Amino acid sequence: MKLLVTGGAGFIGSNFIRYFLNVHPSTEIVNFDKLTYAGNLQNLADIDAQPNYRFVRGDICDAEAVEHLCEQPFDAIVHFAAESHVDRSIAAAREFIRANVEGTLVMLEAARKRKISRFLHVSTDEVYGSMAPKESATEQSQLAPNSPYAASKAASDLLVRSYVQTHKFPAVITRCTNNYGPYQFPEKLIPLMISNAIEGKKLPVYGDGLNERDWIFVEDHCRALDAVLEKGRIGEIYNIGSGRPVPNIGIVRSLLKLLNAPDGLIEFVQDRPGHDRRYALDDSKIRRELGWESKVELDAGLKHTVDWYRTHSDWVQEAKSGEYQAYYEKFYVKRRATLAQL
Ligand code: NAD
Ligand code: DAU
Repeated sequence: MKLLVTGGAGFIGSNFIRYFLNVHPSTEIVNFDKLTYAGNLQNLADIDAQPNYRFVRGDICDAEAVEHLCEQPFDAIVHFAAESHVDRSIAAAREFIRANVEGTLVMLEAARKRKISRFLHVSTDEVYGSMAPKESATEQSQLAPNSPYAASKAASDLLVRSYVQTHKFPAVITRCTNNYGPYQFPEKLIPLMISNAIEGKKLPVYGDGLNERDWIFVEDHCRALDAVLEKGRIGEIYNIGSGRPVPNIGIVRSLLKLLNAPDGLIEFVQDRPGHDRRYALDDSKIRRELGWESKVELDAGLKHTVDWYRTHSDWVQEAKSGEYQAYYEKFYVKRRATLAQL
């Protein structure tokens, strides 16, 4: 099995590559990533020397580079690459349309031309928009994205769907809830709150803190993607969640408790514009059809995550200072050259 993974230097992509090579050691993986601010090759430093893993720096919007890459005999593509942070999409939406919509189109075209037999498009529950209390989205629910990020992901999902309908293209779409765990860039709620609390800084909670998210430990998501890659039906959508939406303030208080830090660090700040009140998914389809279910309880997952950030202060500091961005030229390129000489 030879896999092309896009966006594998980011949070979920790097966890997926590590998970997949561990569970399927005979697989070959090529990781294609532009290394935007969110791409960090240190996330994969421990597997970099493995002979069945290779990194290629490139942009999914570069059709020539992607088509050249797809000349390799890939059995499947797992497409993570995207701009992923809602607040950044509110500040500047253009790059979200470029990377998430145009980039997905380039990937679809290249995969179609090369007749790649499976394309897994990694999407999000945000495409369904905000849920009323007790409501949860099924795969048939209408799309109602409320942020430019969510709109760009919904647009990419619809493009994938159109390729399935028009070209009989072998794609499957997944829509997962909020992930957390090691290697998440400290701009998202959980790693930002952990790292601020460790530094004794204020924890900015948007609005009244009662917006709800359904948190899933990243490895549970990776296991679900593995199951969909192997057994998911072409043309289908699979929701992936943990079935337990929690208010943000509850998450922040749990983190402070685990860190033994005072609640006084919490600071309620101006709300995010268009802030979705509640995300909740009905994921009975993937549980019924593929036998997958989330395993990691929230308390255990948060504890593991807090421990990871505590013991990886160098990673956090480099992520926050931007130092990690020099890693590719300064260390990675040199190291690969040395490896090639061996
Ligand atoms: P991330 O921001 O941590 O990583 C994104 C990766 O994509 C980075 O390595 C970045 O360098 C790369 N990338 C961005 N633009 C690129 C381009 N034009 N060409 C090549 N590479 C590019 O994101 P994440 O949180 O790991 O999310 C990965 C995917 O999963 C995204 O598609 C996201 O929409 C989806 N998703 C995320 C979550 C979540 O909670 N984080 C939940 C559901 C779905
Ligand atoms: O639901 C899946 C989505 O989850 C993914 O598709 C996105 O890529 C991912 O970024 C995430 O989006 P959210 O906007 O839900 O995640 P974020 O961590 O930015 O925010 C989680 C909640 O916490 C949200 O209600 C906003 C709030 N928040 C966030 C930050 C960064 C705060 O209160 N304070 C903050 O500083």
